[in-house]
Amino acid sequence: MGRAEAAAMIPGLALLWAATLGEAAPNPPRLRLSFQELQAGHGLRTFRLERTCCYEALLVDEERGRLFVGAENHLASLSLDNISKRAKKLAWPAPVEWREECNWAGKDIGTECMNFVKLLHAYNRTHLLACGTGAFHPTCAFVEVGHRLEEPMLRLHLRKLEDGKGKSPYDPSHRAASVLVGEELYSGVAADLMGRDFTIFRSLGQRPSLRTEPHDSRWLNEPKFVKVFWIPESENPDDDKIYFFFRESAVEAAQALGRLTVSRVGQICRNDVGGQRSLVNKWTTFLKARLVCSVPGVEGDTHFDLLQDVFMLSSRDRRAPLLYAVFSTSSGIFQGSAVCVYNMNDVRRAFLGPFAHKEGPTHQWVSYQGRVPYPRPGMCPSKTFGTFSSTKDFPDDVIQFARNHPLMYNSVLPMGGRPLFLQVGAGYTFTQISADRVAAADGHYDVLFIGTDAGTVLKVISVPKGSRPSAEGLLLEELHVFEDSAAVTSMQISSKRHQLYVASRSAVAQIALHRCAAHGRACAECCLARDPYCAWDGAACTRFQPSVKRRFRRQDVRNGDPSTLCSGESSRPALLEQKVFGVEGGSAFLECEPRSLQARVEWSFQPAGDAAHTQVLAEERIEHTVRGLLLRGLRRQDSGIYLCAAVEQGFSQPTRRLALYVLSAAQAERLARAEVAAPAVPAGPKLWYRDFLQLVEPGGGGGTSSLRMCRPQPALRPPTSESRRKGRNRRTHSPELRSERGPRSAARW
Ligand SMILES: *[C@@H]1O[C@H](CO)[C@@H](O)[C@H](O)[C@H]1NC(C)=O
Ligand SMILES: *[C@@H]1O[C@H](CO)[C@@H](O)[C@H](O)[C@H]1NC(C)=O
Repeated sequence: MGRAEAAAMIPGLALLWAATLGEAAPNPPRLRLSFQELQAGHGLRTFRLERTCCYEALLVDEERGRLFVGAENHLASLSLDNISKRAKKLAWPAPVEWREECNWAGKDIGTECMNFVKLLHAYNRTHLLACGTGAFHPTCAFVEVGHRLEEPMLRLHLRKLEDGKGKSPYDPSHRAASVLVGEELYSGVAADLMGRDFTIFRSLGQRPSLRTEPHDSRWLNEPKFVKVFWIPESENPDDDKIYFFFRESAVEAAQALGRLTVSRVGQICRNDVGGQRSLVNKWTTFLKARLVCSVPGVEGDTHFDLLQDVFMLSSRDRRAPLLYAVFSTSSGIFQGSAVCVYNMNDVRRAFLGPFAHKEGPTHQWVSYQGRVPYPRPGMCPSKTFGTFSSTKDFPDDVIQFARNHPLMYNSVLPMGGRPLFLQVGAGYTFTQISADRVAAADGHYDVLFIGTDAGTVLKVISVPKGSRPSAEGLLLEELHVFEDSAAVTSMQISSKRHQLYVASRSAVAQIALHRCAAHGRACAECCLARDPYCAWDGAACTRFQPSVKRRFRRQDVRNGDPSTLCSGESSRPALLEQKVFGVEGGSAFLECEPRSLQARVEWSFQPAGDAAHTQVLAEERIEHTVRGLLLRGLRRQDSGIYLCAAVEQGFSQPTRRLALYVLSAAQAERLARAEVAAPAVPAGPKLWYRDFLQLVEPGGGGGTSSLRMCRPQPALRPPTSESRRKGRNRRTHSPELRSERGPRSAARW
């Protein structure tokens, strides 16, 4: 029995061991891009409506080229190419009577008694299905969007509304999880005003409406539904299943452990029509299993117990998609999130394994050892696996067994047995995930876009680690796609258009999946980034097109090793030497910030008139800071060339070349009075001398002037640093000077 099987019935116990994880340092992204940078240089576009909040429902319609958006009291239809232009809007408020009833029920008229649009599905060739909370009076509508080639259209008949009960939540703070298959809607919601009657519900379409057994904690125990998918099981549509992802209170947890939350995957058969004498109009094929995402440890596993979102990445075989899931933790000891990946075989195996069984109220949950009736509960009535053509024909003992055994004994473990990617102590948690499969020069890679509760999107690539199927996630980018830091509530990807659409309480944002030029202007930088969307084309880091001749393209996603790939390339434009002046006894600041936040900086020093280089190590007078080297108590012999190199994955790249001139107090004074030029200073642009003079002038004494030199001096700074610093101000929460960055692999397992 594997570790998770053994732990299956005592979930959460190992949370106690989470303390060890709390000490891990967060992974820094390779690049961090601010809202301003993304807007100015990377085509970030945003959309928001006046006096409207809560953009939560997004629907990508590739054929029409539209992004449909549902928000508070509104629907909108935007261009997929540019969400900032030509928006079609539609007001869909809740009627006054409903708002008054809502208010009488004790809800807030201004914030809760509104129609929050929670779900949008493509219904047929001309209509969408939209549902909203309708001021605690769930309501749905068919929205006319016209035929594919027509002018964009958005029309709704307020007199022809559908009941939204069991489709949309009542409460705006709840999420809707649903899938539309054919004309049938499968949803997981609270079906009452009080938010106590949770159900997995089928509505619309031709098949009978079915639900889960009400008020039976073995079936559902205060669930929070996250996602629903339709996944075929065989070539025969009769075997099609609907999978529900949610979290709930663990009914199987020992009482002593208190209330514990677990994540689940549940299944039902699409052709379920309920039982004949028992479970009438209820699911007869409902099963659920625990979904585990944990880090194995010597003293126990650390569980990420709160499922937040799931993305289904389809493959050529429709029966075998990959499921990328993000989790956070309820631990009070540490803040962390994880990405775990599941394959359908592991999910199906759990449903084919032993059932969890509890003999009576005083008994423990155990693995059921008795005879399981035929057809095995959870199997769909079909010709593939049996002779039954309808769940109404199932024998009574099958129905009884199904009713009492909705829970499986075994858990579903992630691929590789552990998270693909973790972030601990980063100050945010993951809320949403989307994925894209990309063809690169050396194979296919999955790129993940992870939305956080801080309004950012992380771009993570999954690269093989050792032998497959084990992989690890590399954090490439942290994108601040919103002006504020409201949590990401929804995300949609268009692989075809290479765009990501991100929604929050305050806006919708659109950003391309790649920003190759942001990786740098050298082959090595492009290569080290390991971005499967990008390659070095001989002159720049640009979008990789698998169809273009490979000879000119340099890309190595798997290893990111520039030493072999970029050897023939002129490594980077020759470094310009920059001059820095200091006064004896004072201090000087030598700025060097590599583009990559994952690079370590190394300084070497070549004394004036000497050919030998030595590495600059930290000592009493010399401090290595995040932004550069700080030299105090300057001496004449500190004069010379300082070379800053960014070291990443063992590859060293020269980044800055600075010539430091240490002047005596007398020299500085003379210079200040502009009697003579500084002796060691070669002729340079006049402007530069003037800046320098202004610098040393006002103080007179060495101490004051050198202090001024320590501060960022606009005239001496390269033009790019101002803009770059803006995007980085989240890295160190205060501008204090940190001596050394932690090893970047600290939080990776
Ligand atoms: C998007 O549309 C807006 C409004 O029409 C326009 O100002 C902007 O330049 C467009 N952006 C791009 C990248 O096309
Ligand atoms: C789509 O569904 C709507 C609502 O049921 C209906 O009015 C419309 O005629 C349907 N359109 C097509 C093309 O079937």
